[in-house]
Amino acid sequence: MAPEDPALDAALEASEKAGLPPIQVSPPQGKLLYLLASAIRARTILEFGTLGGYSTIWLARALPEDGRLTTLEADPGYADVARENIDRAGLGDVVDLRVGPAFDLLPDLAAEDAGPFDLTFIDADKERSPDYFAWALEHSHPGSLIIADNVVRAGELADEHSEDPKVRAQRRLHEMIAAESHVSATTIQTVGGKGYDGFTIALVAARPI
Ligand code: SAH
Ligand code: DHB
Ligand code: MG
Repeated sequence: MAPEDPALDAALEASEKAGLPPIQVSPPQGKLLYLLASAIRARTILEFGTLGGYSTIWLARALPEDGRLTTLEADPGYADVARENIDRAGLGDVVDLRVGPAFDLLPDLAAEDAGPFDLTFIDADKERSPDYFAWALEHSHPGSLIIADNVVRAGELADEHSEDPKVRAQRRLHEMIAAESHVSATTIQTVGGKGYDGFTIALVAARPI
């Protein structure tokens, strides 16, 4: 059991109270995100899908004071809850929360030269994960990590005949990664409080690997 953590506990409580769906990463997944961001000494992080800011808080805690986490959320009501949770966690200064469909927000980010991102966490509308991955890859550098959530889908990822658009998108994501000589990745299954799913963790490399 992870030790108690007032800011994260308060974020979950406020999210539940506001009626947000309880679909945030689990505590061990949050810790993994924090460890990975810390291990690469991430200074710039991009997140697709904020919800109530639970994964945002884990990731932003790995940043130095002058670091930046940009997180994109389509639902303005969720974003309001997230903003409060992030501020309560003392991370308001490092988190840039933007509201709108992620795809519409990306041109502004590109125009502002917000990247390259040391780490990208893809956890929004799963059908678009391959598109977000392609964008993230273009705004990465050798050494960047791109992590995608909800890729295993109770094992359906392995079913080439699946008609489920979310499964098909995750299969496409894996095909894209396999075809990319400068990306090395693994998919780890997670079984826990939230059922059977998994993360794909991809490393952008300087040369073919
Ligand atoms: N990363 C969060 C969970 C995100 S759940 C955590 O682990 O704490 C997925 C989120 O993606 C939801 O909040 C949903 O509103 C948001 N979302 C769905 N479609 C989106 C889109 N097109 N652009 C941005 N966010 C989107
Ligand atoms: C669900 C879980 C997630 O982690 C997510 O990002 C979106 C939806 C779900 O269980 O429905
Ligand atoms: Mg998720």
